[in-house]
Amino acid sequence: MVESILPVSLQNVSVRKGGKSILGPLDLHIGETGCSIVIGPNGAGKTTLLRLMHGLERASSGSVKWAIRKSEAYARQSFVFQTPVMLRRSVIENIAYPLSVRGVRRRTARATAEDWTEKVGLEYAAHREAHVLSGGEKQKLAMARALITAPDILFLDEPTTNLDGASTQEIEALIRVATEEGTRIVMATHDFGQARRLATEILFMYHGVIHERAAVSDFFDGPKTKEATTFIRGDLLI
Ligand SMILES: Nc1ncnc2c1ncn2[C@@H]1O[C@H](COP(=O)(O)OP(=O)(O)O)[C@@H](O)[C@H]1O
Ligand SMILES: [Mg+2]
Repeated sequence: MVESILPVSLQNVSVRKGGKSILGPLDLHIGETGCSIVIGPNGAGKTTLLRLMHGLERASSGSVKWAIRKSEAYARQSFVFQTPVMLRRSVIENIAYPLSVRGVRRRTARATAEDWTEKVGLEYAAHREAHVLSGGEKQKLAMARALITAPDILFLDEPTTNLDGASTQEIEALIRVATEEGTRIVMATHDFGQARRLATEILFMYHGVIHERAAVSDFFDGPKTKEATTFIRGDLLI
């Protein structure tokens, strides 16, 4: 195995859109293990931060530096969106897709995808069209498709926002296993319970920057800033 793509370092990085700054300038260092949960009010910049790190957003200034060459680093990370995108193919072909595009032989890709349908509990639906799945099933498919490449880091942007309690639990279980197996997780959520259950640390974003960064219990039991206190209390933060 080649060395990890981590740590990743963001240096004085900012994103501007439509003439206005929507992220940064900020510095952030993400090490090799753990689960960082990004929280903060709507519009704080959570999605932009994740997309920037994954290369879906361009930095207007500053830099994002991975431990290895950027082109290789992007191939060894995955992203799970709030609303998963399904290819017009079967469940198993959707799950095998990232291996196919990386040039893995068809039979090997299919066999590995079959394992993953079981790991995420979708074996009964392996040959269905992905489009007919329920929201929870689609997100489990998205998790399998994200993890099948054994990424060094997985970004998740509010992956359970549209799901019921049972599906949320299943997705959380998959995230927990991935963390335990050494996949670095960076995930945005607005669910404090979920943050407490999964996080090793909290990145609290406010107005486009990381306003507070702390271990999960330190953050919820003793936030350092007025803004984090207000946010945790559930009061409106402007
Ligand atoms: N394409 C865009 N053009 C202009 N503003 C944008 C664009 N995308 C996002 N924004 C703005 O950037 C800010 C941060 O957005 P986002 O990262 O989606 O926040 P969050 O995920 O925390 O809700 C918001 O004020 C949003 O309106
Ligand atoms: Mg968002």
